[in-house]
Amino acid sequence: AQTADPAITELQPWMQYLGDGVDARPYGTPSQYEAHVIRRNVDWLTADPVSSVNFTPLHELDGIITPNGLCFERHHAGIAEVDPAAHRLMINGLVDKPLVFTMQDLMRFPRENRVYFLECAANSGMEWAGAQLNGCQYTHGMIHNVMYTGIPLRLLLDEAGVKTNGKWIMPEGADASAMTRSIPIEKAMDDCLVAFKMNGEALRPEQGYPVRLVVPGWEGNMWIKWLRRIEVGDQPWHHREETSKYTDLLDNGIARRFTWEMDAKSVITNPSPQTPILHSKGPTVLTGVAWSGRGTIPRVDVTLDGGKNWQEARMSGPSFDKSMHRFYFEFDWDGEPLLLQSRAHDSTGYVQPTKNDLRAIRGENSIYHNNGIQTWHVNERGEAENVEVS
Ligand code: MTE
Ligand code: CO
Repeated sequence: AQTADPAITELQPWMQYLGDGVDARPYGTPSQYEAHVIRRNVDWLTADPVSSVNFTPLHELDGIITPNGLCFERHHAGIAEVDPAAHRLMINGLVDKPLVFTMQDLMRFPRENRVYFLECAANSGMEWAGAQLNGCQYTHGMIHNVMYTGIPLRLLLDEAGVKTNGKWIMPEGADASAMTRSIPIEKAMDDCLVAFKMNGEALRPEQGYPVRLVVPGWEGNMWIKWLRRIEVGDQPWHHREETSKYTDLLDNGIARRFTWEMDAKSVITNPSPQTPILHSKGPTVLTGVAWSGRGTIPRVDVTLDGGKNWQEARMSGPSFDKSMHRFYFEFDWDGEPLLLQSRAHDSTGYVQPTKNDLRAIRGENSIYHNNGIQTWHVNERGEAENVEVS
């Protein structure tokens, strides 16, 4: 280089003065230079922030774990600020012995640690009719992936003793929306958790402090936050959240219901509209995430030319059941425009469909369960844009 680089030749301020001592930051927060890494919402999507959603900044993250402060939020009646000392979890209905647990009571049950993604059924819902929002934060950010510590729900239900005609449960939240959903007893007894820790620390109020239901692989709406009651019944309740909402209206006017499982899906997080390629041609790192509500993701394919040629991406990091997976694809960019797509394969053999494949079966009335392949167009300047290829 002709000119000296001041980042090397000059003494930087942080080398000339002592920094903050320990305890200056009793609960650590990210560097001031990371202030742009935040959850964001889309103003026009909802009428009021108390019944709204914001989005995880997927394009700023790596690995598979979502940091607690960046997990997207979806509230139907704002964040309940629950005092754990005054919080109770009740089990009633078709049980031998109705029970009420304090938080102290819950702490005496055996716990498990498991990593799961939570995806809102409405994730990518705005993209049904065509490319709309410019950034994977907005198109795919209604998802987070967290290590939960919780009690297998089965243990609590066994303590109450589910009667032989108890075939469904209805968890209820302690927020002002008193959110409820119907869940079949087989799922409740299988892998559901009553979780009180996320990524090692207490749940955040946004995520349902002090307890939330974890319903692995199933749509986020069923993961009741601020969990206060579980009723056992002999049939589904058909409440608002499983009739007027969270059903999928087809072209013929008939709605699919009980579409609980989240299908395999993936998205390239870098490059993407919020994180363009910042260098000229040469070695480039492409990365993204993939997940399936039915198992693991053994393989992700990537195309640079809108689906003409596919190559296998490199998976990296732990592969947990019903968790996010991370993939990378390193390539030499020739400086020409790109049409980037990723395609997930899950452990059942299912392959992520194109958006057109989905529309052919489901029509365009749907909001929920859009797991179609996402395309980013990258121009000669490295800028990316949300597009569709036919
Ligand atoms: N539980 C209660 N009590 N109240 C709510 O508004 N929203 C649901 C679900 N559980 C909700 C709730 C929806 S639609 C989703 S997608 C997830 O919580 C969002 O979880 P998160 O806020 O931790 O991302
Ligand atoms: Co939701």
